Amino acid sequence: IRAEQRYEKFVYREFQDPERDSFLYGTFPSNFSWGVATAAYQIEGAWNEDGKGPSIWDTFTHTPGRTYNNQTGDVTCDSYHRYEDDIAIMKEMGMKHYRFSIAWSRVFPDGTRNRINMAGVDYYHKLIDGLLAAGIQPMVTLYHWDLPQALQDMGGWDNDIMAVHFDNYADFCFNEYGSKVKLWITFNEPYVFTKVGLETGVHAPGLKHQGTTVYRAAHNVLKAHAKAWHTYNDRYRSTQKGKCGITLNCSWGQAATDSEEDKAAADRYMQFGFGWFAHPIFVNGDYPEVIKDKVMKKSLAQGLTTSRLPEFTEEEKQLLKGTSDFLGANYYTAVYVSAKERQAMPPGFFKDQDFMTTDDENWPTSGAGWMRPVPWGFRKFLNWINENFNKPVIYITENGVAEHSEDEPMFEDTWRIQYLTSHVNEMLKAYTLDGIDIRGYTYWSLMDNLEWAEGYASRFGLYYVDFKNPKRPRLPKESASVYAKVIRNNGFPE
Ligand code: NOJ
Repeated sequence: IRAEQRYEKFVYREFQDPERDSFLYGTFPSNFSWGVATAAYQIEGAWNEDGKGPSIWDTFTHTPGRTYNNQTGDVTCDSYHRYEDDIAIMKEMGMKHYRFSIAWSRVFPDGTRNRINMAGVDYYHKLIDGLLAAGIQPMVTLYHWDLPQALQDMGGWDNDIMAVHFDNYADFCFNEYGSKVKLWITFNEPYVFTKVGLETGVHAPGLKHQGTTVYRAAHNVLKAHAKAWHTYNDRYRSTQKGKCGITLNCSWGQAATDSEEDKAAADRYMQFGFGWFAHPIFVNGDYPEVIKDKVMKKSLAQGLTTSRLPEFTEEEKQLLKGTSDFLGANYYTAVYVSAKERQAMPPGFFKDQDFMTTDDENWPTSGAGWMRPVPWGFRKFLNWINENFNKPVIYITENGVAEHSEDEPMFEDTWRIQYLTSHVNEMLKAYTLDGIDIRGYTYWSLMDNLEWAEGYASRFGLYYVDFKNPKRPRLPKESASVYAKVIRNNGFPE
């Protein structure tokens, strides 16, 4: 492990540095897709314009005390009005695809197909048409956390009728945009929006339901995903010829020691974080055994008579299995995992897992408190996915790093240049040396934007955005030209 921490000493300013002995030179295949990602609530602004309905994130950020300095997405990057600027800077960098999300309540203001907001529908047509004219393929996320408030009022993801509403919304989008969009992602990071939204309460809708709710909500999300995938498969695939997948995330869980207990704990960490969603979809229509076992045992020990983890019927398992044409994977960081039970946690989700996570003081820090750059974890993460989920087609749908800065631009973003080049290099090793079927890489993010509850100071962008003067042009950091060079070179040719 020590040897792999040499990252710290590297300055990947120039790729041709012979000192980087673990650096792999080489390129990706010519059809490899390079992109950047954003999400509707984080960049669009125009939160109540042209007939858009409120989402849970509008409600949440408008509630005092929920976000850093009470910051909201009311204006943010103003991409609802300035999407042409976004397209122009992507074109400048040579981007092949753009991953963005549709705001459900811009299209269906109350979340249901009873009312369609044509101005919102047209906005995404203009965006998609502009991208295609610039030679950039749209990669569209249907759900990046901004549930229509009207659906939350019906119970949100805890209510299984959400699967029907989500399917109606997905059906509408496939029908409306599918002649132009060939890459669809149903959900972004279901682990995060269920757990952080419904259990820790740090994200919208801000509920702190310990124990059962998060499993029930995730269960409904999985059913909603399967329904939408079948809609695409049955009604649109043969004419539109696109692909429909899901985006999952997890930090890499590295066993803290070589002991069997810690290795098992690390695998459990990955299963609870990633397998929870990936196993039903990519393996057998059901949750990983280790989750079923653990939650059952804990539930009984708590005095319940059944498991807090819901069960799929045989029919549901059949409907779930195989419902993804590719796996979208988001990777940011790694942790060490050991078999000790985490102390001082409220009863519920964490306790079900029986492990403890720590990071390493020696790992470099970043402007986002929750993540330290650990590039070697990326390759291990990709290998673990490959081994556990039947060697799926993989798109990296997010990977990135932030600086912390209120307003001041930091154009010399050495940390981002290091992060990007070292992670792309680990991905190249996974592709070339390990034979993993990776089709594309998407940097998070095109530009600084609202980092959810952390607000605007956590800046992940290749471009700087001046949130005090949203009319000012987005300005490139040094990493933007480095990424453009990686794209031009299609990797790191000798
Ligand atoms: C995960 C999320 O998908 C995205 O919305 C967020 O901004 C980034 N990662 C960075 O935390």
